[in-house]
Amino acid sequence: MSFAQHYAEHISHLCKLYDAALTEVGNGVDAILLHSGTDRYYYADDQAAPFRAYGHFAYWLPINRPSQLVLYKPGDKPVYFQVVPRDFWHEQDITVEDWIAKQFTVHVLDNSSEVAERLSRLGLQTSRLAFIGEHTQYATAIGIPSATQNPSALLSWLDYHRAYKTDYEVACIRKANRIALQGHNAARTTFENGGSEYDIHMAYLQACNILEEETPYTNIVALDEKSAILHYQYKRRETIANSQVLLIDAGCRVNGYCSDITRTSTRSHTLSLFSDLVEAMEELEINLVRRVVPGISYLDIHTAAQRGVAEILLQHGICRGSIDELMHEKISTLFMPHGVGHLLGIQVHDVGGKQINTRGDITAPPTDYPALRNTRTIEKGQVFTIEPGLYFIPQLLDPERRSSRGKLINWKLVDSLLPLGGIRIEDNVLVTASGVENLTRVSI
Ligand code: GLY
Ligand code: MN
Ligand code: MN
Repeated sequence: MSFAQHYAEHISHLCKLYDAALTEVGNGVDAILLHSGTDRYYYADDQAAPFRAYGHFAYWLPINRPSQLVLYKPGDKPVYFQVVPRDFWHEQDITVEDWIAKQFTVHVLDNSSEVAERLSRLGLQTSRLAFIGEHTQYATAIGIPSATQNPSALLSWLDYHRAYKTDYEVACIRKANRIALQGHNAARTTFENGGSEYDIHMAYLQACNILEEETPYTNIVALDEKSAILHYQYKRRETIANSQVLLIDAGCRVNGYCSDITRTSTRSHTLSLFSDLVEAMEELEINLVRRVVPGISYLDIHTAAQRGVAEILLQHGICRGSIDELMHEKISTLFMPHGVGHLLGIQVHDVGGKQINTRGDITAPPTDYPALRNTRTIEKGQVFTIEPGLYFIPQLLDPERRSSRGKLINWKLVDSLLPLGGIRIEDNVLVTASGVENLTRVSI
């Protein structure tokens, strides 16, 4: 099925979803106005950061531009207020492909201040609308009461449902995976040829045919010891003689939807113990994906990942003792201090990961695993990442050198591995009725 067909279904799904939201938590409003956001300027500067449309807006409309509005009124075709300022300093024209435009009644305006009058022509009073978006000053200016600006009951309701992807959303994430995999292939080749972090980053962008500002998050391109910095943000330009490890965590966007993929690569001269660890982590990651099935908690996958890391540490002589001892002493958290993954969608760490119901009640992660971003029950239609890691992080390990649990660690081996940084393997998966589909392990 084409994007066009999927998108038509997606929009009709959103109409039903918003109907239910208005019935359950609409508090009597007649319609909902969604705003994409505004440019954000650096302090005391006339330069803006790259724009990123607000998630609930992008859920309806894949137009990554400021000051755009979507109106949803039950029973009516959704309206797109396309605001195209008269401005000769910047490109302001917006190309809206047919398959998108067809789902809306489109009003093209010079200025968002004209929206109030258009709403009134559509028979709507702004005092009876809900507004969803950051620019609440604008909402106030057109007469939307503060009580119906970003009402928390409505947002919690919508956030919760964002976890269940439509076929259109899955198609976007699927394509975002395929494109990113081309980048990952190019990145690996550049690493194998001795390229710098900068060279690898540029090879990735070029192979995906994207600009840096189009990536869902800052590419993590880390050679050797930098791969132990979980969200390493720089790209060293100097080549590293005989680099041994590349950890690259990089995705793409398709119609706003993200992929989020990590691969760890070694070279023929890499310390063999480290290459063995990479192989073991690959196997662990694949086995964790296999465990995904509706009905269990995502925390179960996380706990299995922690146990899997502890087993790898034992098998490779990096730790001693029994698996139960290592788990009891929480040794694996020193080597994998992050959660095994998160919901994925329009936002790379998608909304609602800890929400247990539409009311916005949350399940906090257990105190042993404070960084876990997803505590939900696994259900059909969810898309999330599975991303176990094993790192040698001096900040976490050094204080343990003289601790009692530190006796479970083989420090000589740890010292030999510290210069190689760490490992993360990350795939994106879709929960199906009976199990899981890996959206990343596909041939391209
Ligand atoms: N790319 C950030 C993460 O994997 O969560
Ligand atoms: Mn991730
Ligand atoms: Mn990632």
